[in-house]
Amino acid sequence: MNEWSAAANARMARHLHAVAQRVPELGGVVAEGLLKRVVGLTLEAVGCRAQIGSRCRVVSGPDSSLEAEVVGFSGERVFLMPVGEMHGLLPNARVIPLPHAAAIPVGGGLLGRVLDGEGKPIDRGGALRCERRLPGSDAINPMERAPIDRPLDVGVRAINALLTVGRGQRLGLFAGTGVGKSTLLGMMTRFTEADVIVVGLVGERGREVRDFIDHSLGEGGLKRAVVVATPADRAPILRLRGAWLATAIAESFRDQGRHVLLLMDSLTRFAQAQREIGLAVGEPPTTRGYPPSVFAQLPRLVERAGNAVSGGGSITAFYTVLTEGDDPNDPIADTARGILDGHILLSRGIAESGIYPAIDVEASISRVARDVTVPQQQKLARRFRQLVSAYQRNRDLIAIGAYQRGSDVTVDAALALWPRIETFLRQDFHEPANFHASLQALESLLPQ
Ligand SMILES: Nc1ncnc2c1ncn2[C@@H]1O[C@H](COP(=O)(O)OP(=O)(O)OP(=O)(O)O)[C@@H](O)[C@H]1O
Ligand SMILES: [Mg+2]
Repeated sequence: MNEWSAAANARMARHLHAVAQRVPELGGVVAEGLLKRVVGLTLEAVGCRAQIGSRCRVVSGPDSSLEAEVVGFSGERVFLMPVGEMHGLLPNARVIPLPHAAAIPVGGGLLGRVLDGEGKPIDRGGALRCERRLPGSDAINPMERAPIDRPLDVGVRAINALLTVGRGQRLGLFAGTGVGKSTLLGMMTRFTEADVIVVGLVGERGREVRDFIDHSLGEGGLKRAVVVATPADRAPILRLRGAWLATAIAESFRDQGRHVLLLMDSLTRFAQAQREIGLAVGEPPTTRGYPPSVFAQLPRLVERAGNAVSGGGSITAFYTVLTEGDDPNDPIADTARGILDGHILLSRGIAESGIYPAIDVEASISRVARDVTVPQQQKLARRFRQLVSAYQRNRDLIAIGAYQRGSDVTVDAALALWPRIETFLRQDFHEPANFHASLQALESLLPQ
């Protein structure tokens, strides 16, 4: 709903126009345009000079205006996509460029708060009491980043012991729907030793946002966390913004020397939002309808996480990736595997057998585990994988009682230890397992 009065709207339009023309970074080159065409979610304006990524206000009448972002141009035509609801548009509406780059909220005042993709609070907690700053424009030079050489305790036994996460590592959490991604992210939020947790909920169902905050996080989890939520019904531009905002907030805490855990649910929906925009402005669809810009944006987003320069803070990040239908050729899952330093797979089969978190230890890998663990732990983790793998290979035989004990020592050992292996993997939603306890559990499980 637009509740501006006609006079206020006209005043606002004059003011915005004046501001836009004064903005030094635009060098006085902004110019107002007129709306000529609307196709789907794409607006086309002529006469408008505004940078890609900047915002314009499209004013259709005294009480009808909306904000849109410049997403491309072709000759004299500028393409925009609305940031909010699209209604009340008229031919020849004025398209007025707005000042560039919105400042993002930063600082301790954000903890415990839930924001939308534009950084506005949506949790009825009142106005934000925090500073604002412009988001940084460059990722840290990879040569200057501190190396990943310390583990981060995520509070989940199987991950701490077998798939150890390093501070500054970027991992994918691959799973189909309803296999327990959100629950696992919630456990990490509550149990990790990271100083600050930033959660980006991008493009999931609206109902889930509330559910995640009330149940997965709970009051305890929310205290150290900032949540940025842009559910599926928001404009694709806003969903992208939500992901970038969560990342920028994580960066701001890292720049203060804090160790941040960034949880992004989901990278797939981020890619889909970029696909909507790319296709709308006429990019060619390539693999599975994803235009090339998607494959350019994914690494850009992910590269933002990681360690700061030596001695600074870190962003350890988990990006969830939907693997629906367990399609091995899903281009997003493929790309994500290539750009992340490890992946944790949640398996539907394991969840169906009642083991939560349903981590498929065999199929998961942390590429930095060797750099952040001692050889003794690596040896035990290798042994654990061997046992799980031997058991899984012979699963069908074992199930029908056709496996003959004594045929294979590793399978025999796996069979003997299986109930304890399952107990090790199972972790109740309310039960934390710190790094030390996780390692001890692994040591006591496997005879030396
Ligand atoms: N640690 C756990 N202990 C017991 N049950 C669990 C656990 N984790 C997940 N579940 C069960 O799995 C269901 C789905 O979990 P969750 O919502 O976390 O999955 P999801 O992968 O995020 O789903 P979606 O794809 O719908 O977002 C839960 O409602 C719960 O019944
Ligand atoms: Mg979920």
